[in-house]
Amino acid sequence: MSVMPSTVSLNSEEFRRNREAYEARIRELHERRARALAGGPEKARLLHKQRKQLLPRERLAAVLDPGSPFLEFGQLAGDGLHKGVVPSGGIITGVGLVSGRPCMLMIHDATVKGGSYYGITAKKHVRAQMFAWQHRLTCITMVQSGGANLPEQAHIFPDEGQFGSIFYNQIRMSAEGIVQIATVHGPSTAGGAYLPALCDEAVIVRNQGAMYLAGPELVYAATKEEVDVETLGGGEMHSRVSGVTDQLAENDGHAIAIVRGIVANLGAAPKQRWDTAAPMPPRHHPREIYGIVSADNRHPTDNREVLLRLIDDSDLQEFKPLYGDTMICGFARIKGFQIGILANNGVIFSESALKGAHFIELCCQRDIPLLFIADVSGFMVGKAVEQQGIAKHGAKFMTAMASANVPRYTLIIGGSYAAGYMAMCGRPFKPTVMMMWPTGRAALMGPEQAATTLAMVREKIHRREGTTWTDEDKERFKQPIREQFERFASPYNYASNLWCDMVVDPVETRDTMALLLELAGRQPQRDTRFGVFRM
Ligand code: COA
Repeated sequence: MSVMPSTVSLNSEEFRRNREAYEARIRELHERRARALAGGPEKARLLHKQRKQLLPRERLAAVLDPGSPFLEFGQLAGDGLHKGVVPSGGIITGVGLVSGRPCMLMIHDATVKGGSYYGITAKKHVRAQMFAWQHRLTCITMVQSGGANLPEQAHIFPDEGQFGSIFYNQIRMSAEGIVQIATVHGPSTAGGAYLPALCDEAVIVRNQGAMYLAGPELVYAATKEEVDVETLGGGEMHSRVSGVTDQLAENDGHAIAIVRGIVANLGAAPKQRWDTAAPMPPRHHPREIYGIVSADNRHPTDNREVLLRLIDDSDLQEFKPLYGDTMICGFARIKGFQIGILANNGVIFSESALKGAHFIELCCQRDIPLLFIADVSGFMVGKAVEQQGIAKHGAKFMTAMASANVPRYTLIIGGSYAAGYMAMCGRPFKPTVMMMWPTGRAALMGPEQAATTLAMVREKIHRREGTTWTDEDKERFKQPIREQFERFASPYNYASNLWCDMVVDPVETRDTMALLLELAGRQPQRDTRFGVFRM
């Protein structure tokens, strides 16, 4: 037992200021979530209801077991990315329990541009599939989609990771025994029709679902053949004549009940890989994190205090507590699941990098998942550390992090900049899931440093060309750069572009991590072979 004591004063002025600032950010998070949860424009939702269809979130509620959690991915995807906004990227994705079994649900939102795919929709669908693939989760796709959003073809059609990859992933997952099920709830054209056609089993709703490679208008334009929706691709036709669908449902609710029945008969689920301990709450409430995370970027947060509000019983078996203290490393449990945590507590020095690499090796040997908690302006710079070889020590840390074959999670709680972002298992290093707190930020550098760097470059050019600029000119030059870097670093920019999977409230973090770790327990263990460690 190594229960960490807290030295935070809950009554201090600083705690109050931090908490107020954090609570404002939480309000913003909930406003953004509410907008995403509403779906498409009211007119489209009304039309949907008039057609006697369940809305996508109602379909979700109907397919989940009562009381099931729903671990949603990419809820804020696409926000502000396209003119007219694409709430949630036009598709809902996440993991929940269906007939007692965790499944990946992918549900088109036809109230958003007829469920047609923007680039971000395809990216989000593919991301959900990759998670399902890694965790061997049955995939349920609820289809109602106009296929590719035509003006978006550059982001949909030609490349890997776009619409075509969805089909590829379906086929390869099916080949590995990862079940693919679809329900067709509305007109589904071209790509929207191939999605269910490529599933192991497909259900279609009578007089409502339809699927065809080209709709009646396009058929007429191409061949002058006149045909109505039902004859061309309705539920009766596909269930009795073409055999493209396997089950005919009377309505949305019936289709969902059929899917629940299919899942209930899928045979044995994968066994859990780890034993868990009895979950224990932290000794200090996670809500206190609001008052601990510094609202002033110039003052660092004491991340030991944050940690002891995230882990069971505030109990951290710290590794090398007296060495490389800007990288806290230790073994802990979150709701009973064991985890190896690496958390920044200042810039990364050679010692912290070496300690981190050593700790990752331990976790890989012991098959313990890793959680990277990022709050770092980067690696230390300067003559002394360069001569010490910080580049090769940083490389060892990155090699260990990138080679590790245990599940790796990233949580950005403060600024995560430059190589620090990379080293703390940033998105390019393929963490199993990347989360950000509302205070998380990530960029090449901070706004002030970026403005100063570019101003210095400009100043050098002025000197070379014999021109001058006033202090006011310089400030006018710097301000938009600061603003641009501020906007870029925002967790909502990351969420919108799907550079992170979710923005989580600190008080939700334990629940989210526990769900993720439970799912990770389904993955088969893989040994780690490390890249060359430069000595
Ligand atoms: N590309 C771009 N926009 C599309 C689209 C597509 N493939 N499919 C639908 N939309 C847009 C519509 O223009 C409309 O936009 P608006 O909200 O700005 O008016 C919105 O989505 C809703 O379309 P609407 O036709 O009113 O909805 P619906 O529920 O009555 O019908 C479809 C939905 C999908 C059946 C119908 O829109 C359709 O047939 N689309 C064309 C599908 C197609 O041929 N795809 C080929 C892809 S390769």
